[in-house]
Amino acid sequence: MKTRIIKIDPKNIDRGLLGEAAKVLTEGGLVAFPTETVYGLGANALDPEAVAKIFEAKKRPLDDPLIVHISREEEVHELAVNIDPAAEKLMELFWPGPLTLILEKKDKVPDIVSTGLDTVAIRMPSCPVAGELLKIAGVPVAAPSANLFGRPSPTTADHVVDDLEGIIDVVLDGGKTEIGVESTVVQFAGGEARILRPGGISVEDITAVIENVRVYTEEEILKSSPGKYEQHYSPKAKVVLIKDDPMQVEKCLTLAGEASNMYRVGILAKAEHAEFYKGLNAKVIGPSGDLTACAGELFHVLREFDKDGVEVIFAESFSENGIGLAIMNRLRKAAG
Ligand code: TXA
Ligand code: MG
Repeated sequence: MKTRIIKIDPKNIDRGLLGEAAKVLTEGGLVAFPTETVYGLGANALDPEAVAKIFEAKKRPLDDPLIVHISREEEVHELAVNIDPAAEKLMELFWPGPLTLILEKKDKVPDIVSTGLDTVAIRMPSCPVAGELLKIAGVPVAAPSANLFGRPSPTTADHVVDDLEGIIDVVLDGGKTEIGVESTVVQFAGGEARILRPGGISVEDITAVIENVRVYTEEEILKSSPGKYEQHYSPKAKVVLIKDDPMQVEKCLTLAGEASNMYRVGILAKAEHAEFYKGLNAKVIGPSGDLTACAGELFHVLREFDKDGVEVIFAESFSENGIGLAIMNRLRKAAG
């Protein structure tokens, strides 16, 4: 299959071009598109055959459910029932935006989307290219991140092309994604709001506006939830996390020095430590004081290490405040 790459300027959206991509969706094809978090690989969520192609293209296990993307608030009621008032509140405050809600599903949602669960994950993206595409297509769009299963999520169209060229119909290139890590996933059950995956909306933002919020531990998630597979947002290399303490640089230098006798080594570093790693294969994701910038570069840097053939990455740890929790969650998963 030849993959068509369509460039879209998010500041001056060409609706004619988006219409061509929307047509591919309504005809049962696969379209990768930018969102504010990462690129998604979309198919018409109401067409089980189209959705099946997503699993095939990504080599994703059939029991890892997908997120359904919508562009109008009403659509949530067409897809889900018995919505918790706290969920309504989060929608009101954070949609459109990087927040996914797990809700009781209606029969209309095909089983393949939710992999047989009685819940469905729904989110309304804020990226204008995604929003317009969804509006023109006029159908809800099921979309996981547009990477091959187990690889870091794509934050540029080039990342999508690297993984899926020749396998999917269209890549909409809307430039680099704004946030760089995936949406926050929240489930309502047992009288609490459970954060199953930290992401673009911080835990602090959520606890500030609703009660009974609990961040699920990585163990609880493994036990209770699907998506347990994507425990590695993994680069090909092994990732070793170095604690964030005053000895961080020394430890990193020692370990990297030892490992480099046997392996191709990379160091994932804070900007303020770059000078200590001169002459080594270090890549900076950003200053520790700007976690938003760090989130934006994280997956790109992991992919760059892969391209260099790095076998072991020593990764400095970051603060877990705000979006830092999402960064550390992804690094821990990559570390396995
Ligand atoms: O930012 C994002 O969320 C991106 C963009 C494209 O929207 N999408 C994304 O999708 O990261 P994916 O498939 O890579 O991750 C979806 C996560 C998985 O961990 C999956 O297990 C979980 O959401 N999930 C989906 N439906 C679920 C459900 N019914 N119950 C529990 N978890 C669910
Ligand atoms: Mg994913």
